[in-house]
Amino acid sequence: MGEFVRVGRVADLPPGSVTRVEVGGHLVALVNVDGQFFAVDDTCTHEEASLSEGGLLGEVLVCPKHGSRFHVKTGRVLSLPAVRSVAVYPVRVEGDAVWVSPDAQAPSGLMPHRR
Ligand code: FES
Repeated sequence: MGEFVRVGRVADLPPGSVTRVEVGGHLVALVNVDGQFFAVDDTCTHEEASLSEGGLLGEVLVCPKHGSRFHVKTGRVLSLPAVRSVAVYPVRVEGDAVWVSPDAQAPSGLMPHRR
């Protein structure tokens, strides 16, 4: 089990913000949704693109390259062209410090098939 890594201060990560941080060799997109923090793999599962450079729509990160959407709480992919979800990372807030664990949790699966 990897140790949690301090990645920033709450005061520097306002609601609606997305920040790229490095945790144990992983590039992670750290998101503040209405004061709650979530962390997912920063690299899109479609091609090379940094999700932290895309937009945040509520609880959804939008890839800046081709627009795939990922849910920040589950890592689940919500739209094409990506079909694989991104891993999520545990986040802890202690006082003004935000900590992220390098122990990625498996993404929650493939995009559901539309009928
Ligand atoms: S690189 Fe993210 S959708 Fe294509």
